[in-house]
Amino acid sequence: MRTQVGIVGAGPAGLTLAHLLHVMGIESVILEHRSRDYIEHRVRAGVLEHAIAELLVDAGAGDRLRREGIVHHGIELQFAGERHRIPLSELADGRTIVIYGQTEVVKDLVALRLDAGLPLLFEVSDVSVDALESERPIVRYTHDGEAQVLECDVIAGCDGFHGICRPSIPTTVLREFSREYDFGWLGILAAVAPSNDELVYAHHERGFALLSLRSPELSRLYIQCRPDEDLDGWPDERVWEELQIRLGLDGWTLAEGRVLEKGVTGMRSYVAEPMRHGRLFLAGDAAHIVPPTGAKGLNLALHDVQVLADALGAWYRTGSQALLDAYSTECLRRVWRAEHFSWWMTSMLHRADADGDFGLRLQLSQLRYVTTSHAAATSLAENYVGLERV
Ligand code: FAD
Ligand code: PHB
Repeated sequence: MRTQVGIVGAGPAGLTLAHLLHVMGIESVILEHRSRDYIEHRVRAGVLEHAIAELLVDAGAGDRLRREGIVHHGIELQFAGERHRIPLSELADGRTIVIYGQTEVVKDLVALRLDAGLPLLFEVSDVSVDALESERPIVRYTHDGEAQVLECDVIAGCDGFHGICRPSIPTTVLREFSREYDFGWLGILAAVAPSNDELVYAHHERGFALLSLRSPELSRLYIQCRPDEDLDGWPDERVWEELQIRLGLDGWTLAEGRVLEKGVTGMRSYVAEPMRHGRLFLAGDAAHIVPPTGAKGLNLALHDVQVLADALGAWYRTGSQALLDAYSTECLRRVWRAEHFSWWMTSMLHRADADGDFGLRLQLSQLRYVTTSHAAATSLAENYVGLERV
């Protein structure tokens, strides 16, 4: 088989890239090793930056997003028993965030792809990439028990952090930068109306907690836990009890409901440079990971593929490689801004035993500063809603 762009991975990055290319008349084949059902029900991110929501709408992939996405104009930071609002849009030129689950983004893009009869193969195995430095890179894979070879002009490695594309780049070429955190998040999805109109990021001496949502009937909540926390030790009652303590405020109640999903996410900061090797272009989690406290992972992934689609469009139209050559540098500028912001939010809000009481006092001072200084709040707001130029 031959195609113009071979895409490994049908996460948000791979699916969005395929759609943007299709709009420009560029062919692609998406190879995904999980099933459709699995990728459509993998609960992950929920916050879209203003410009990223616009990207999906402008590309014709945002009909349901426009109808069902919930626009928020602020977030709240809670510490020392008080809640403080950060008026995002007031501080960031009217820009907002849109609450719309990653599962929904994926469902919308899969439906568009399959309805148009375009190639998206699920449950492929033994995927490998080869001849990356030639003009005919290839993807090998097995589908329905048969070994296949896909010849491409370029390959997009959109296969997430544990994919095969990044490890195919020689270690002499790739530089890796990372930081581990000694905590994770235990997240639940619950069948109960969100108890607050806006997201609440809570600093608490027992550890961080976050109140978020997916819809008027679905709450998404997280508590800081150990990175290897055993879910067996967390029956639903204990999760609610801990959420009540960490999010609790005089005169406010957290409504509880049936827990529909529960999982633990480890935390990591990671960047691989460059995001290109020969005709292989990495995008999204395949190239970088942020801890979720800044709500940046999904947004960065979609930004990467927007840059890549524009560069491929220019190349096919004009033959010029200039934008492809600039791809890695262009993406990494935004990636590092998001890395810093995500690390900063994480450090400000999580309990870190190694930092002791000194660290705790610094966090409280920073939280007070961010919620009382116009300059500091503006900095948080413009990073949170997404910077237009970085
Ligand atoms: P992915 O979504 O990881 O997609 C990669 C795809 O490639 C997957 O479908 C995978 O099955 C497929 N694949 C992997 N290997 C192969 C292979 N060899 N062959 C073919 N296909 C392959 N971000 C936030 O902003 N907020 C959050 O709350 C949040 N929670 C998260 C929770 C978890 C458990 C994880 C892992 C991430 C979370 N993130 C969150 C990050 C966010 O979800 C990611 O940044 C986003 O999914 C990146 O999209 P992607 O398409 O680059 O990668
Ligand atoms: C979510 O709703 O899943 C969510 C929201 C904000 C974050 C991370 C996750 O920072």
